[in-house]
Amino acid sequence: MSEVDPKIQRLRELRAQALQGGGPERIEKRRQQGKLTARERLDLLLDKGSFREIDMFVTHRATGFGMEKRKYLGDGVVTGWGTIEGRLVYVFSQDFTVMGGSLGEAHAAKIVKIMDMALKNGAPIIGINDSGGARVQEGVDSLGGYAEIFLRNTLASGVIPQISLIMGPSAGGAVYSPALTDFVFMVRGSSYMFVTGPQVVKAVTHEDVTFEELGGADVHASKSGVAHLVADTEAEVLYLTRKLLGYFPQNNMEDPPFVQTGDDPLRQDPELDRIVPHDPAKPYDIREVITRVVDNGEFFEIHEQFAPNIVVGFARLGGYSVGIVANQPAVLAGVLDIHASEKAARFIRFCDAFNIPVVTFVDVPGFMPGTAQEHGGIIRAGAKLLYAYCEATVPKLTVITRKAYGGAYDVMSSKHIRGDLNLAWPTAEIAVMGPDGAVNIIFRKELATAEDPDAKKQELVEMYRREFAHPYRAAARGYIDDVIEPRETRPRLINALQMLANKRDLNPPKKHGNIPL
Ligand code: HXC
Repeated sequence: MSEVDPKIQRLRELRAQALQGGGPERIEKRRQQGKLTARERLDLLLDKGSFREIDMFVTHRATGFGMEKRKYLGDGVVTGWGTIEGRLVYVFSQDFTVMGGSLGEAHAAKIVKIMDMALKNGAPIIGINDSGGARVQEGVDSLGGYAEIFLRNTLASGVIPQISLIMGPSAGGAVYSPALTDFVFMVRGSSYMFVTGPQVVKAVTHEDVTFEELGGADVHASKSGVAHLVADTEAEVLYLTRKLLGYFPQNNMEDPPFVQTGDDPLRQDPELDRIVPHDPAKPYDIREVITRVVDNGEFFEIHEQFAPNIVVGFARLGGYSVGIVANQPAVLAGVLDIHASEKAARFIRFCDAFNIPVVTFVDVPGFMPGTAQEHGGIIRAGAKLLYAYCEATVPKLTVITRKAYGGAYDVMSSKHIRGDLNLAWPTAEIAVMGPDGAVNIIFRKELATAEDPDAKKQELVEMYRREFAHPYRAAARGYIDDVIEPRETRPRLINALQMLANKRDLNPPKKHGNIPL
């Protein structure tokens, strides 16, 4: 056996030391909590053997608090690049075994370097967050490190896709890097995010609250909307991240990848003709419409638990990646409220930034009435959705399945705000408001003086329904390009995507718009 050169031997030893992170005991403790190590997470996320690590020998240069003696190779974060389905991605993965994954100057500099590379080379960045936040011993250097990351998150926004996976704590100002990225995924039961933890909450507001209640995955997925997706295990979150990336281009200068899905673009689904109930007050699940229309019924839903009265997510149509926005009549009749408006607006802006066409299914009775909504800012929130649709220049396809009433008709990708192809099913009802409300306003006097007000109202509602509750007045104006049989939806949408493949549309030159935040 040949002797190993001592210099090579030294390199091997240093590498082995770096792979130990905070040491075997801390790794074992994490295992007992059911957690993977920072590198195991990357191995599951990336194509087998594709990960290339850099900055393995970086250490901090802090002094005081005994820090001179606490140096770990890599300084608590693993950085580099690899591939997902053969496509380049940049990654960082925080190592909780090294000082709780806390972020100091050197740790931050490693993340910043990899973010700069991702931006310069036009590939997505995925950050795996597992950190006690700012490294207390490093003081303002650590705060500065965070700010450098926030700046890059902002500069990269709309240029490369950014995904944050929360696999442990994300506390204090540390929450703001994930919050600035496009998608935040959390693991149920083992990840949490909050600006101030339970102890501070207790001191300030006297509330008793657990980590999970304050900032656990389900709270952020259903109440705050911070988390776009939640899964039970780390492995599942990593698998879903791989899947999600398949819908995205590498950067804003590319189109999303076209994939042969094997589903016939001309396939018609007769079941669609029966989905919308005859009674307009009866709900149905818009997800059934979506899955019957898209390739192989595969719909990658985002924000499933948050504002379920609107459904958003990614799918393929004839192999093209599309973003889908759909009112959900099965929840609150599909009404637009504050959360639904914000959820959809953010999704549309992501699609527009990354050249992903937006397909909108409309069945909306209007905006949610009430003091809670008005005082909570439904005007501002609704304006965000309107703004997002108006400014979007990607292909915009709209299918009105049933109600398109009032301002909500305008907002939901109408012809007037640059909808490229606006289709309606024969069940569509396009009007200023529903028959009941309309009759109460237009025929108030007649109803007040009628011998039998109920019978009169019934008669007037029927008359209004005949006159207005259909798509043909809108079609007569050309606001609807065509009325189609529901079964034709898939082939018509795919044909439209092909027709719009070279669409070019521009907004007036400006520094940036002023979306009503
Ligand atoms: C330095 C830290 C640390 C931190 C944890 N550690 N957080 N070291 N700075 N912020 C170290 C611990 O000393 C310990 O070291 C190891 O990490 C593991 O921590 P434990 O407490 O033993 O782990 P656990 O019981 O699982 O609790 C995890 C935790 C807790 C809930 C995250 O460590 C915690 O509360 N940490 C402080 C969180 C915090 O307040 N961060 C500052 C937020 S403010 P040893 O040597 O024993 O392994 C902030 C400002 C950013 O981030 C502003 C940006 C704008």
